[in-house]
This record gives sequence, structure tokens and C-alpha cells, in this order.
Amino acid sequence: MPKLTTFSAQLLRRPREVSALAPSSRHLCRAMAMQIPSSARRVAELGPGTGNVTREIIEVGIQPKDLSLFEINPYFSQWLRNTYPAATVFNEPAHKLALAGPEPIDAVVSGLPLLSMTAGQQQEILSAVFSQLGEDGVYIQFTYGPASPVRQNIVTSLGLTYTRTNRVWFNLPPAVVYVYRRAPRRVQQLAFVAL
Ligand SMILES: C[S@@+](CC[C@H](N)C(=O)[O-])C[C@H]1O[C@@H](n2cnc3c(N)ncnc32)[C@H](O)[C@@H]1O
Repeated sequence: MPKLTTFSAQLLRRPREVSALAPSSRHLCRAMAMQIPSSARRVAELGPGTGNVTREIIEVGIQPKDLSLFEINPYFSQWLRNTYPAATVFNEPAHKLALAGPEPIDAVVSGLPLLSMTAGQQQEILSAVFSQLGEDGVYIQFTYGPASPVRQNIVTSLGLTYTRTNRVWFNLPPAVVYVYRRAPRRVQQLAFVAL
């Protein structure tokens, strides 16, 4: 079945999980993959769907054997196994990231619909992500919204800082890529005092 048909069929079956009209465009996928540090080796992707972002992650030089994919939808998971046989596909929710193994991860790339998640779900996922990321690791997330898709209280409680790209207009709808990382210690202390 063609990719778009597969995506649309799953959107109709599981709308809250899929939560997008179409797979991300090549422009958006590339904008995400380009945020992976050039020194990164181990990468995890959360909510890869039909693997559009996955393709660009491999394109920027990440070896499929170093790639762990966490996809909650069994149909997409099987699709990913067929398309990227050398990657490790977990048909598991994103907060089970520890299943990827004990070695630190250098970058987590996420297509998760964070805006349709509760504060508790976001907290669980972001805590799992930052407990698996190495000291300089990054969490890369796109959003269609006008502000950080990770709630500010979670950003503060985990001691994070973030940057954002310009809006990627060639996507339906246009989207922005956010990159979260641990704030330098001094900034974390100031944020804690401000709380
Ligand atoms: C907006 S689609 C993004 C698909 C693809 N990354 C793209 O950009 O085209 C969201 C994806 O996240 C998956 N998903 C939703 N909640 C999830 C969770 N808690 N853990 C893992 N995957 C999840 C959905 O099944 C879907 O494949």
C-alpha cells in the first residue's frame, strides 16, 4: 500500500495518536535531521510513523544499526521493520525509551503529537528522554503551534533550555522545529531560585 494511504488509514483508525493530516514533508524532515549534532552516533526516534524523518536521519549519516525507533502503532511498526531492517523497532510507547539499552543516546528526534498529550504524559516522556540522553544530548521536536510544545513547567523542572528554527512553510500545516538540551548549571540554578 502506498505510504500516504497507509498513513491516512491509520489516521482514521487512531486519530489522537496520529494527529496529523499527512506525513511530514521532506523539507520538515530535513530541518529536523539537520539539528542532530555532527558528533552523534546513537539516535532514537519517537513516533516515526511511516519513516519520513527516519530516512533523513540516515541521510545525515546516522547508521541504521545505531537507530532505535519507538512507534506505538503496530501497523506502522511493521512497516518500519520492512523498510529499515537494520534499525531496531520497538512497538512500544515513547516513555519506554530505556528499552533502547544502557548506553547514552546522543539525540532523540520526535514526531510525537505532544500538544494533544496531557501534562502527565509529557512529563513521563520528557523525563524518560533526559534520563537516557548523554550530557550534551538533544531532544528535537516539531510543532504546528506558536510556542514551545513542551510545557514551560516541564522545561523548568528538568532544567532545560531550547532554541527554535524558522517556520518551515513547505509542510501541511507549516511547522517549527524546537531543540531542547540541558541548560548550563548556572542557568539551572537561577531558574530554580526564580521558582
Ligand atoms: C504526527 S505523526 C508523525 C509521523 C512521522 N514522524 C512524520 O513526521 O510524518 C505521530 C506519530 O506518533 C505515533 N505516536 C503517538 N503517540 C505515541 C507514543 N506515546 N509513543 C510512540 N509513538 C506514538 C503515532 O502512531 C504516529 O506515528
